[in-house]
Amino acid sequence: MSTLTRKPLVSGNWKMHHTHLDAIAFVQKFAFSLTVEDHRRTEVSLHPPFTALRSVQTVLDADRIPVALGAQDVHWEDKGAYTGEISALMLAKLNVTYVIVGHSERRQHFGETDETVSKKVRAVLAAGMIPIVCVGEGEAERDAGATESLVVGQLRAALAGVAPEAVAKVVVAYEPIWAIGTGKAATPDDAQSVAAALRESVAVDHGTGSGNSIRIQYGGSVTADNLGEMLGLPDVDGALVGGASLDAEVFAGLVTGLRG
Ligand code: 13P
Repeated sequence: MSTLTRKPLVSGNWKMHHTHLDAIAFVQKFAFSLTVEDHRRTEVSLHPPFTALRSVQTVLDADRIPVALGAQDVHWEDKGAYTGEISALMLAKLNVTYVIVGHSERRQHFGETDETVSKKVRAVLAAGMIPIVCVGEGEAERDAGATESLVVGQLRAALAGVAPEAVAKVVVAYEPIWAIGTGKAATPDDAQSVAAALRESVAVDHGTGSGNSIRIQYGGSVTADNLGEMLGLPDVDGALVGGASLDAEVFAGLVTGLRG
């Protein structure tokens, strides 16, 4: 795959929002707004909470809606005594395509570490799904000029030991923590330079083929107003959207706003 064939991926991370009933209504309304051409131009994934995955899957299947199903987290073991956890095999059985791994909210509030992220990445790939590996710096690290070394370190740890063919399929989400839910997105220049550094590190560690193929999303206060510019950047191939993915019309507006 070359730069030319990296199809943009716009993902809606609902976080802890929407019951399964809300989710069904969302998908029906959302799908109605998108055309075949929108789907051809942009790949879309929806990441509802675990409790809504089956409902969303059923609507997508029944209405043959070409939107990918995604999860927000996963456990790295296939099964076992891990109360409250969900395995990659369980997600794969629901036709989940993408699994968010290492979101900063999980790193901050739930003890996610580079080590657990790495185990989850392997489990997701082994189950035939694609991880969306989240990396991002906090405000203090940014002010200290440590952004690139920090995010490259997070990505290196997440992909260590993964075969190049598998790395090529991975999606990386660069989400500066200070930009999440604040209305203050990174500038396109900053997003591009961090994305370029991430791609370069993948090329160095896993080969230029993987570096060229890997898709890099930007996340953090993405709206219809800044999405087009972000996707126009040479190394940004999509977006991971939180707040602006919660309303069907608003999220559909992000995708239809990319029409030529
Ligand atoms: P917002 O789009 O609400 O800033 O959230 C970004 C995010 O964390 C997506 O994973």
